[in-house]
Amino acid sequence: NSIFNSSSLFFIRPPTTDPFRSQSHHLPPKAKAAAAVISDNLVFPDPDFSQQAHVPNFHKYAEMYKRSIEEPAEFWSEMASEFHWNNKWDQEQVYSENLDITKGSIHIQWFKGGITNICYNCLDRNIESGNGEKIALHWEGNEPSHHSSSLTYNQLLDRVSQLANYLKQNGVKKGDSVIIYLPMLMELPISMLACARIGAVHSVVFAGFSAESLEQRIIDCKPKLVITCNAFKRGHKVINLKDIVDSALSGSSQNGTYVGLCLTYANESALKREATKWQTERDVWWQDVVPNCSTKCDVEWVDGEDPLFLLYTSGSTGKPKGVVHTTGGYMVYTAATFKYAFDYKPSDVYWCTADCGWITGHSYVAYGPLLNGATVVVYEGVPNYPDPGRCWDIVDKYKVTIFYTAPTLVRSLMRDGDEYVTRYSRQSLRVLGSVGEPINPSAWRWFFDVVGNSRCPISDTWWQTETGGFMITPLPGAWPQKPGSATFPFFGVQPVIVDEKGKEMEGECSGYLCVKTSWPGAFRTLFGDHERYETTYFSAFPGYYFSGDGCRRDKDGYYWLTGRVDDVINVSGHRIGTAEVESALVSHPKCAEAAVVGIEHEVKGQCIYAFVTPVEGVGYSEELKKSLVLSVRTNIGAFAAPEKIHWAPGLPKTRSGKIMRRVLRKIASRQLDELGDTSTLADPNVVDQLIALSDS
Ligand code: PRX
Repeated sequence: NSIFNSSSLFFIRPPTTDPFRSQSHHLPPKAKAAAAVISDNLVFPDPDFSQQAHVPNFHKYAEMYKRSIEEPAEFWSEMASEFHWNNKWDQEQVYSENLDITKGSIHIQWFKGGITNICYNCLDRNIESGNGEKIALHWEGNEPSHHSSSLTYNQLLDRVSQLANYLKQNGVKKGDSVIIYLPMLMELPISMLACARIGAVHSVVFAGFSAESLEQRIIDCKPKLVITCNAFKRGHKVINLKDIVDSALSGSSQNGTYVGLCLTYANESALKREATKWQTERDVWWQDVVPNCSTKCDVEWVDGEDPLFLLYTSGSTGKPKGVVHTTGGYMVYTAATFKYAFDYKPSDVYWCTADCGWITGHSYVAYGPLLNGATVVVYEGVPNYPDPGRCWDIVDKYKVTIFYTAPTLVRSLMRDGDEYVTRYSRQSLRVLGSVGEPINPSAWRWFFDVVGNSRCPISDTWWQTETGGFMITPLPGAWPQKPGSATFPFFGVQPVIVDEKGKEMEGECSGYLCVKTSWPGAFRTLFGDHERYETTYFSAFPGYYFSGDGCRRDKDGYYWLTGRVDDVINVSGHRIGTAEVESALVSHPKCAEAAVVGIEHEVKGQCIYAFVTPVEGVGYSEELKKSLVLSVRTNIGAFAAPEKIHWAPGLPKTRSGKIMRRVLRKIASRQLDELGDTSTLADPNVVDQLIALSDS
């Protein structure tokens, strides 16, 4: 009964259950066509929307999908030929891959031998095709009263070229890494594009990470320079970013990685230059040097497989992993996914609330939209500042047509009440998007009904830092949606659901979500640790890329993501490794041992719940709790702070010393009648002690 017969995913036939055929029965009368029709938990697209969409129906999707799977080289070559390549890629071998660890080293290559530049394709190419005067970026500051600004494609190219020239003058060459530690100022995408223009590998570190985290990343990738700003405002708070950089750079040089240049943008609306701490031999004000550089900068032509960026992300163990994306495949994939999953048209105004410090900002604030020549809104502040209506104020101000955000924001705005939404017009909106975690059906409904006035399809995009771009996503207008389901795979993606033994399951099932063959946007390695790449992602289920997510496929073939199955916690769409938080806690002198689990949270999706055993002789106190939380804030960042510290005289361990997290999760979420079998614990009494301390 499934749309996809998973034993041969090449095969697509019309569903035998009815979602698509029944569409005709439920077609709204023309007069009511503005609102989509909801039936049996299926939300049918408005026929007028479908008619104008790139992919107007399931049939067209099925045809394109089938071709993308059966003839990937041809399919993706066609997509790639929309871009400028100085030299075509190897026509005989558009891609090459081995995803099967039992057959040797894992490798993925797309468009090898193709010579291109992603910055050129984002900017120069769009200018050459007559869009130089189109707005590329609108920047909206934290304060609604703050003067907003915009850059056309021509102006953006000038700014990028000036910075690229400055980097070149300072010895940055192809292959060198550059750390960018900036908030959502225009200078953040400018810096990314400037690196790409000269073939340097950028590594953006989210400006919410602490000095320790920044230092760790500096030591790992040894950048030629760090680009930052002196300070910025987020809501009511002023954050002195430069102080954090100072501390990270002094820490890294004590540990043998000396960075001799810190290019600092003077963000004087937050902090005056005079008030900024300065190291003359190392620090340079952006405004003193970059504007003096030429606005013409030749691009560095790179191979399709040359690295574009690395981005650190959390895993279930150890230190953060430097996910490496290369140029050609990532370019083609982010551009194509953006175009189809948001039904992008040149007249759209697009706003994604993500920060460029995360993959969403890389692929869908910067590269994907700019490759399509889109007009992008970049917002500096928090989405509910000064009040929960700010997003819709921005939507109306810029006439945003595509709005892409995270379920956590939807839930928090939903809690604040409809009036903050309905007081704004939002008439410009036509497509909504969601990313970062599963969107619960009630939040989906609110987003759809209240924000989108029941007329905007929602693209619930499932993907990961590692995948580079969307993997499972609705194509707006092409098929009915089910609130909470990411629906179907994007072109070229073959998801499979496997059981514990790695056996592919058919039809309706649930298990571990894997991917069978490579797609152009896939990451190629972990920086400096290809072995960890292979063991983390390709050894659990040989032959497949393992996502770390659980997933269910229903009788109609719709995919429902059910969350991480490893020790990764997803807090407000931010990925945090339990091991990282534990090691931050244990670094506290009064903490003997810590175990961290994720539990459900109404707004954040999940929150961090920490069990802590203090060192011998140290009593439980509120002060100690506070200082433990502080330890996580300074080691990782505020977004990773535990919601709750639960005192633990001991932790539930098996006789071999392994912590039984399953039991901790149940205690944390107060599901005490579901503790399960605890007889294999070395000391079963520990469980009672923990329960007794639940409210301490
Ligand atoms: O668990 C999935 C969840 O976010 C994880 C990836 O996190 P990260 O690499 O930080 O990238 C976030 C932005 C792409 C996934 O393993 N996730 C992301 N999008 C969805 C999702 N879970 C369910 N539905 C989604 N749409």
